[in-house]
Amino acid sequence: MLKLSTLSIITTLILITLCLFSYETEARLHHHKDKDNLNPKVEPPCQPPSLSPNPNDPSQSPSPSYHEVVFNVRNYGAVGDGVTDDTDSFKKAWDSACSNDIDNNNNTVSILLVPYGFTFMIHSTIFTGPCRSYQYFQVDGTIVPRDGPKSWPSGFNKRQWLVFYRVNGIALKGVGVIDGRGQTWWDLPCKPHRQNVNKTALAGPCESPAALRFFMSSNVIVESLSIKNSPQVHLKFDGCNVVHINTLRIISPSSSPNTDGIHIENSNSIEIYNSVISNGDDCVSIGTGSYDIDIRNLTCGPGGHGISIGSLGDKNSRACVSNVTVRDSVIKFSDNGVRIKTWQGGSGSVSGVTFDNIHMDAVRNPIIIDQYYCTAKSCANKTSAVFVNDIAYQSIKGTYDIRSPPMHFGCSNNVPCTNLTLSDIELLPSNGETDVDPFCWNAYGITDEFSKPSISCLKSNPSTSLLGGLSGKCGSS
Ligand SMILES: *[C@@H]1O[C@H](CO)[C@@H](O)[C@H](O)[C@H]1NC(C)=O
Ligand SMILES: *[C@@H]1O[C@H](CO)[C@@H](O)[C@H](O)[C@H]1NC(C)=O
Ligand SMILES: *[C@@H]1O[C@H](CO)[C@@H](O)[C@H](O)[C@H]1NC(C)=O
Ligand SMILES: *[C@@H]1O[C@H](CO)[C@@H](O)[C@H](O)[C@H]1NC(C)=O
Ligand SMILES: *[C@@H]1O[C@H](CO)[C@@H](O)[C@H](O)[C@H]1NC(C)=O
Ligand SMILES: *[C@@H]1O[C@H](CO)[C@@H](O)[C@H](O)[C@H]1NC(C)=O
Repeated sequence: MLKLSTLSIITTLILITLCLFSYETEARLHHHKDKDNLNPKVEPPCQPPSLSPNPNDPSQSPSPSYHEVVFNVRNYGAVGDGVTDDTDSFKKAWDSACSNDIDNNNNTVSILLVPYGFTFMIHSTIFTGPCRSYQYFQVDGTIVPRDGPKSWPSGFNKRQWLVFYRVNGIALKGVGVIDGRGQTWWDLPCKPHRQNVNKTALAGPCESPAALRFFMSSNVIVESLSIKNSPQVHLKFDGCNVVHINTLRIISPSSSPNTDGIHIENSNSIEIYNSVISNGDDCVSIGTGSYDIDIRNLTCGPGGHGISIGSLGDKNSRACVSNVTVRDSVIKFSDNGVRIKTWQGGSGSVSGVTFDNIHMDAVRNPIIIDQYYCTAKSCANKTSAVFVNDIAYQSIKGTYDIRSPPMHFGCSNNVPCTNLTLSDIELLPSNGETDVDPFCWNAYGITDEFSKPSISCLKSNPSTSLLGGLSGKCGSS
């Protein structure tokens, strides 16, 4: 269970109060200019001081003199009846918002408003920067794509739906819904759950779009929205830095294939806070080139595959992931809890990972390192592997499904996992059956003596001379 101290509740209340107060103050101070002569009742963005909408100085509170200009998609011709294709209107609204810099002093917030009470159908679209002002993409209504692969416009990339590309300084927020209408994509014959006993994919096109993708963008906030039923990954970041995700809801059926909640790769300084993800694949997946990732108060499940670092090292590739923290989170009725998965034959390393205060509820593999990750029926063993080092598991408690051991450290034959640190572990069978012993293969580390179940399979950390030869050679780590 999460410890929700009175102190943190009080702190939260104080923050909320401050935030409401600053709304009013800001509203009065701003030149509130409505370009489209409507009255959209847009509240100024209230965000943590470190993520101010002032593109000049992200470390300070918003300057009281910045200008807000509203670009309501309805004023660009969007109909919002869920049937009409509103793509062109969105593009026009974006182009106006992105090129807006009313006073030419970089002190403008452009609000692209997707109003409440409407459903806008838009097809595959790339919202391209750089923009001349901070972009506040406010989704209060619903956005849907065309329904299914057959109606996807020909010539458009089937791997992505809504893309933000090269945007520095954007908040995607609102009370609205981004609904990927995934069902007909999930039903494609090629999908993993439709594979035959030999794990051979059935014929046919398989590409399916990620609902939202941020590509080569920075200073990104994604907050309060619901993202549901994506054909594939719900929210993807690649080549991004300084991303703050807060109070998101990502929902799709546990049977939906490849519907990762949030996927991160080649990105750094990512925060994922206070969000709920219930889906059919990884809750969060962290791919190569990612570092400085901070995840707090995330609820994963029911359903899904838990929080994964990986898969890494596919096709003998080099992969580097470091400095990842996941704390104060809950994972329930899920195939995995916290997982590191690597293919045989890769190189590089995963290091500096902390899982702290995670509650597991009937999870199949609460703690797992799988260096034999393989999606075919079997994969050959290789001599090289991604080096897994400095992984801390603190206060991991709750219940596990006894079909698998509560801890599984399956490390490579030639490249052991080192410095795994386990403390305050308490994992009990979910139906009161007897314990299943932890599994270790070529795994080194330390554990305290009070772990439940007791962990006797971990070998003592090797000497530093052995460690010296194992470095995954990933920059400084
Ligand atoms: C606004 O930003 C652009 C690009 O960073 C810069 O070239 C320009 O000098 C800035 N203008 C002002 C008035 O600060
Ligand atoms: C699975 O593979 C075996 C052996 O290669 C083959 O005999 C069998 O027909 C295959 N089954 C299917 C459903 O493809
Ligand atoms: C954790 O996140 C949930 C869902 O957004 C929220 O309701 C709850 O208040 C958060 N808890 C804390 C301690 O911030
Ligand atoms: C690890 O990442 C956090 C942000 O999540 C950052 O504050 C910290 O400085 C990083 N630590 C190192 C050693 O780089
Ligand atoms: C690879 O190595 C592991 C650990 O030694 C062993 O259990 C597994 O059977 C091997 N796999 C193959 C395909 O040889
Ligand atoms: C082992 O890991 C812990 C926690 O991740 C870290 O604090 C410590 O410095 C590591 N030890 C060595 C020898 O690298």
